[in-house]
Amino acid sequence: MTDRDRVLERLHAEAQRATSEEVTHAGAPIVIISGMNGPGKTALMGRDLIIRFFPFRIGRVSRRSGAVSGEPDLVIPDSPPYRISQFHLSLERRNDQIILVDQESRFGTKVNGILIGKGAGGEEEIPLPTGDSQILLGGSKMPYAFQFRVIKDHSPGIFQDQVWADEHFIPVAALYNRLCHHAQYILTSREESFPERLHAAIDLITTFATNTDTTHLLYAFSTSPETFPDMIVAHSVNVAIYTVKLAQGLSYPTDETIKMGLAALFHDICLYEVPPDIIYKKDILSDHEYEVMKKHSMEGRALLAEVPDDYQVVPMVALEHHERIDGTGYPKGVTSLSEISELIAMADFFEAVTHYRPQRGPYTPHEGIRMLLQLKEAIFSPHLVKTFIREFSLFPIFSVVRLNTGEIGQVTRTDPGWPLRPVVRVVFGRDGRPAPDYREIKLSEHNNIYISRDISDRIFISHYFKL
Ligand SMILES: [Fe+2]
Ligand SMILES: [Fe+2]
Repeated sequence: MTDRDRVLERLHAEAQRATSEEVTHAGAPIVIISGMNGPGKTALMGRDLIIRFFPFRIGRVSRRSGAVSGEPDLVIPDSPPYRISQFHLSLERRNDQIILVDQESRFGTKVNGILIGKGAGGEEEIPLPTGDSQILLGGSKMPYAFQFRVIKDHSPGIFQDQVWADEHFIPVAALYNRLCHHAQYILTSREESFPERLHAAIDLITTFATNTDTTHLLYAFSTSPETFPDMIVAHSVNVAIYTVKLAQGLSYPTDETIKMGLAALFHDICLYEVPPDIIYKKDILSDHEYEVMKKHSMEGRALLAEVPDDYQVVPMVALEHHERIDGTGYPKGVTSLSEISELIAMADFFEAVTHYRPQRGPYTPHEGIRMLLQLKEAIFSPHLVKTFIREFSLFPIFSVVRLNTGEIGQVTRTDPGWPLRPVVRVVFGRDGRPAPDYREIKLSEHNNIYISRDISDRIFISHYFKL
């Protein structure tokens, strides 16, 4: 079995687990992990995780991208010289206690100021007290800081607002994280030949393009404004997920869907040729810098020209994804382009506006969709914009919304055919206090209840943890 086969096998298993496994341990202690500051926050992709299955292992991705088997459940995005071990620590549940076990990591783990593991040269495990613990990984020079909260007394209903995340979120988080790590290797590796990288990319896209449920869950994930540290990788993976979702929604055959996902993954490959001080510039680009940036589409086509005949869509999309049907795009300013290029151009636009860029913060998915609606007459074909909204809903999963009743909720499901009326779980009552029952409202069945505005995730989370 080759490394690639092992990668695929593992990813398939995870995809299945993500969509089918029921994890219920009502009443037993659980752990909520939050990134406190620094790069550890990125590992959680801006969200907080509830851990209900144990052992739960935390570490970094292996140096060789192929050696996936046995990777940790939560991957810390460490880079050489590594300060996080591949299996740095695990959380275990013994009887009624949560035990943190340092897996003999090189620098140890600091738990509420106490160093355990190799760094301390001795003790390797420590029970976590009920309540909050401060955890530092990576040594004192480059600490990754987390807060672990152990909760023992909870009835099955208490965390209903996060149960969805609990059952599906972590396996999909691991899958998403792994997609990014593999995509990074595929997009930046100079060691492997291009055909090798193309094959690895086909495998990667196939992992979710053959399963609409997994794509849907990955999509919910990719809407988090903070995903993967390498902006180009995160962007490419997210655009691939959106593209596959659109292709599935338009009932493209699976082999076409995979090719479209592939084209999306590679569309910006030549952004790596643009100097980083242009890519990450915080101010508006000068005319000259913009011209340099614009070269990535022509260069992308040239670099990708050697794909087999069956995959010509890949260089085509690299060339066309900044073209617009009103002729204002580049590099050629054409007024007609293929449906595939236009779909990927929409996914590209939506991804860019809903995530951090050096010059600005992210717009919410709702704002992103609103921009698409406003622009549709000018630069995108109206029927494709309609498809986009049908597939993505005006309020994607995880959007936080205020209802006209004064209550605040989180979208837990979208309702096909009802882009303005998803299913909302009420998290805060109209008095601003946590809602006692976390009930779900299917807005399509309640004419008198509607969303009055959406609130960015960030405000929601800071509000939530002030309580
Ligand atoms: Fe681009
Ligand atoms: Fe792009």
